[in-house]
Amino acid sequence: MTGDTPFSWRRALVTGGAGFLGSHLCERLLDSGVEVDCADNLACGRRENIAHLEDRPDFRYTHCDVCAPDCTERLAGPYDLVLHFACPASPADYLRMPLETLDVGSHGTRNVLAIAERDGARFLLASTSEVYGDPLVHPQHEGYWGNVNPVGPRSVYDESKRFAEALVTAHAGTRGTNAGIVRLFNTYGPRMRAHDGRAVPTFICQALAGEPLTVTGDGSQTRSLCYVDDTVDGILRVAASRSVRPVNIGGSDEITVADLARRVVALTGSRSPVAFVDRPVDDPGRRRPDTTLARELLGWSPQVPWEEGLKQTIAYFAAPPPDPDPRGEEPAPRS
Ligand SMILES: NC(=O)c1ccc[n+]([C@@H]2O[C@H](COP(=O)([O-])OP(=O)(O)OC[C@H]3O[C@@H](n4cnc5c(N)ncnc54)[C@H](O)[C@@H]3O)[C@@H](O)[C@H]2O)c1
Repeated sequence: MTGDTPFSWRRALVTGGAGFLGSHLCERLLDSGVEVDCADNLACGRRENIAHLEDRPDFRYTHCDVCAPDCTERLAGPYDLVLHFACPASPADYLRMPLETLDVGSHGTRNVLAIAERDGARFLLASTSEVYGDPLVHPQHEGYWGNVNPVGPRSVYDESKRFAEALVTAHAGTRGTNAGIVRLFNTYGPRMRAHDGRAVPTFICQALAGEPLTVTGDGSQTRSLCYVDDTVDGILRVAASRSVRPVNIGGSDEITVADLARRVVALTGSRSPVAFVDRPVDDPGRRRPDTTLARELLGWSPQVPWEEGLKQTIAYFAAPPPDPDPRGEEPAPRS
């Protein structure tokens, strides 16, 4: 599914549309002839992510907290597609905004589901591999219920998404809402924030600055990375299906965090050493999606090789000006 693929949707709502994934989704939909309303409260997104879209007549930005009771009136639609991506997603953000994160999974999801029900739109929840917690099953398939610590620091994110999945399922079952769930694994690419604490931007920025790459623990924990173009393609395929079942979308390239750091050093040509620092509480040990369902149901599999994806991402961060962190925070635990 490429940028010029015609969709049958006429007008889409993308919540969290000024964030990393949301902004790429807005762009892909617009390039495919779909009008887009982007709703965001900029809690952790950036207006500059959508600056290149703002002059387009088929694009509209609404500054809006999806937890606010009036958001359903302010987002008047009508829409035939609702992509619910609003949520702090990096550990740095959700640890800074724990209650807001729980709110957006509960009240926010309820409000955005009401918009989809009002308009008879297809609704898709951006869920996460974090619903599997620190998994006891590997690779993780959609039937696995997960291993989440409900009172650990990460629980605000994990349980918010698990609750949101339950809401979506109940809404579809009781109200007939055409709702689906996409479980996204770690995605990387341009428009991530330099200081959001996620491994790829952290390592790239450290390597470009000649600083040590801070690998947590002994670096043997694994992640499976997917380039943003592939993830966006997978999301839109799940949206275009009528699947009510959760669908995993994620990369097949499982690597250790230490190897990821070494790849970044090699591709940036940096002389940065690797430094080992404390591992965050409840950090998952292994992560790899079983994407059989996405392949068989949707014909989806990742296409962008990791070298290519990392080169594109390095080029983004290497281009001036570098991304300053307006909050001036220290990098936080990464996922
Ligand atoms: N990027 C990934 O690897 C990944 C993996 C799994 C799941 N996800 C999910 O995908 C979605 C987008 O993730 P991302 O990486 O683009 O994160 P991001 O932080 O870049 O984007 C999230 C956006 O949501 C907005 N937002 C937060 N709370 C809001 C609220 N109450 N009202 C309106 N807007 C609000 C933020 O301002 C931000 O623009 C999230 O729901 C996240 O949980 C992402």
